[in-house]
Amino acid sequence: MKKKPLVLGVMAVVIAYLAGAYFLYRKLFFPILAPPEELTYLWVVISGFLLFLTFSLYHIFIFRRQLREHKDRQKKNYSKLRKANEGALKALIHALDYRDHDTWDHSIRVAAYGTALAEHMGLPQSELEKIALVGYLHDICKIGVPDRILLKKTKLLPEEWEMIKRHPELGYDIIRQLEFLNNAADIILLHHERYDGSGYPLGLKGEKIPLLARIFAVADALDAMTSERPYRAARSMAEAFAEVRSLSGVQFCPKCVRALDELGIEHLSRLQQDVKNQRTMKFQPEDLVACSDLS
Ligand SMILES: [Fe+2]
Ligand SMILES: [Fe+2]
Repeated sequence: MKKKPLVLGVMAVVIAYLAGAYFLYRKLFFPILAPPEELTYLWVVISGFLLFLTFSLYHIFIFRRQLREHKDRQKKNYSKLRKANEGALKALIHALDYRDHDTWDHSIRVAAYGTALAEHMGLPQSELEKIALVGYLHDICKIGVPDRILLKKTKLLPEEWEMIKRHPELGYDIIRQLEFLNNAADIILLHHERYDGSGYPLGLKGEKIPLLARIFAVADALDAMTSERPYRAARSMAEAFAEVRSLSGVQFCPKCVRALDELGIEHLSRLQQDVKNQRTMKFQPEDLVACSDLS
């Protein structure tokens, strides 16, 4: 609000009161020349109304200024919080990248495959962002797995395998501490569940596994099959597709396998190359801070 109406209001009240005072003076000292009584009363009413109007305008003016200041403060706090969250997310990602670059590369590809699958299945933008975030962070807990297990070239011993199997729960525990990443934590926990109920850690079966986790399991496994491991060579995309297809209804959700088939080997191979050539991803990790409750 501009100050002009306020000044005009104050002037109107002053004039009204001066006029009222003048009428009163004439009535007291020159009763013959005094204006009719109705006019005096009218002036009192008008000046009272103007006084009320001026006070109201004044308070509206103050209230709007306070509201604007409050909004500015809120904006500044929001951007500070967003920067802090971005920093925390980047720190996690860098920690994983420095610890094991291969796991980080795997995470980027899984984010790309998972997003493409979810988009093909018609999921909304918020779910696409969520699956990308899960892709980046799902194996975060491998930071704590010793090299002798992570890089082992031979078959894992049962106790080593048990240690690996704990990574979804540990990842869940890490990620749920960060409120802005909370929405990704449940999918991280469930990314190794299998459609037939033989997965871990909860052994959920069929559609009891959330759709995002079922989509994610396909994306994760596809990349695991097409990546080189210390104990085996990478398989081709066509071989991995055939393997995923053969496990439809066993390890993977048939709906998600169908979506993968529709998306096609070529599309997935292109995504694989895009990540390799460091082309822009659909969602950069820092874009995903906005998918938290802050937005
Ligand atoms: Fe995993
Ligand atoms: Fe993974």
